[in-house]
Formats: sequence, C-alpha cells, structure tokens
Amino acid sequence: MTDIPVITIDGPSGSGKGTLAKVVADTLGWHLLDSGALYRIIGAMSVRRGIQLTDETAVAELAATLAISFADDRVTVAGLDLTDEIRTEDAGENASKVAHLPAVRAAVLDLQRSFRKAPGLVADGRDMGTVVFTDAALKIFLDASAEVRAERRYKQLKNKGLSVSLRGLLEQIQERDARDRGRAIAPLKPADDAIVLDSTSLTIEMVVQQVLSQAQNLGLWQPK
Ligand code: DC
Repeated sequence: MTDIPVITIDGPSGSGKGTLAKVVADTLGWHLLDSGALYRIIGAMSVRRGIQLTDETAVAELAATLAISFADDRVTVAGLDLTDEIRTEDAGENASKVAHLPAVRAAVLDLQRSFRKAPGLVADGRDMGTVVFTDAALKIFLDASAEVRAERRYKQLKNKGLSVSLRGLLEQIQERDARDRGRAIAPLKPADDAIVLDSTSLTIEMVVQQVLSQAQNLGLWQPK
C-alpha cells in the first residue's frame, strides 16, 4: 500500500464509466488505468496467437509476458498497434471470456497496481474497488439499466455508420453482464464502501459533477 491516492470507477459496459474516468483523470491531472483494455488486449493477442480462450494456463502465460504500452491515446503490444482492434464487439466478448479465468486475473494484478503513480490514479474496471485497489480513497460504482446501455451503444455504432440491431445489442449486453456479475472470482459488484451512482437518467456531465464534488469533499482536489 502507498500514500498515492486512487479513485476507482467500476460498473458494467455502457454505464459511461470510461468517459467518466477519463474526464476525472484529466481534471485532476492524475494517471488513468483502463483495466478493461488489458483484458481486451489479452483476448486479442490470444486469438492472434491461436490460443483457445478457454485454455487458462496458456492465456495466463501469455498475459504475464505481454509488453503493453498506453501512450498518446494508442494501445500497443511490442510495437503492434491494437487501438482499433480491441474496440470491436467481438473483442469485448473475448475480453469477457478471458477475464473469467482466475489465473489470468492473477497474472495482471501487479501490472494494474504498477499504474499507481504520483500524483494519483483513476482506475476504471469491474473489480478496481473490490480487489485491485481496496484502499482507494474514493470508490464509485456507476450503473445504468441494460436497455439504456444498449441504446447508447446502438447510437455510437450507428454514428460510425455500422448497421446493428438494438435487440441483438441488448441480448449481448445482458449475456455479458450475466457472465461478469455471475463469475466466481472478482464478480462485477459494488465494494461495500462504494458510492453507487445510476446514470440511467443522468447525463455524463451530471455524473462527473457528482464525482468531482466527492473528490473535493475528501480533499483530493480543489477547483482552480
Ligand atoms: O470495460 P470493458 O468493456 O473494456 O471490459 C471488457 C471486459 O473485460 C468486460 O466484459 C469484463 C472484463 N473486465 C474485467 O473482468 N475486469 C476489469 N477490471 C475490467 C474489465
């Protein structure tokens, strides 16, 4: 444990936690850990190397050896740019599958903790507050109904010119939620000391304001 403060932001995909984490990290001038990206990279690299996503030992070995770098909004693994490849629906599915494996989660624990650097870290994921940074100064759990999350994703994909079915997206989200919430190890759930926010009927700006005022109350940040 260190004195370097951490804010954890956990929640299901589509709750807006990625955007929230980025805005909070930028506002405070803190580092950002997108832990979902790590599982997405492990899934993508397993597929590239022909490793079965159910082969726990092989996927964990791969996870322990990947030279991952996040810089200038790009994600690279040993020089290979995976930024766009890890953002597809398939990559999300594969991430959820490898994230289910206990040996894989154990393999990325130290890597995730190595992101804790001064002046502070905002960590976004599913188990940031419950497992990885249990001593975080502020823990947020951001939820939203599956229907609203499917609609948000539908709009994002349509804006990108992709044709998708809203019903298909909703089913995919419900299936992924069940896997992430129901798994035996590090399931998606709020930490006992987390503040639970529901973004179903809140804009991202409203959620950001709530989190910043919590950070201010705790003395983690002062508005300029
Ligand atoms: O946040 P995301 O959609 O990029 O995450 C992709 C998958 O990775 C998600 O289905 C669950 C998994 N994940 C996890 O198990 N633990 C984390 N800390 C982050 C993500």
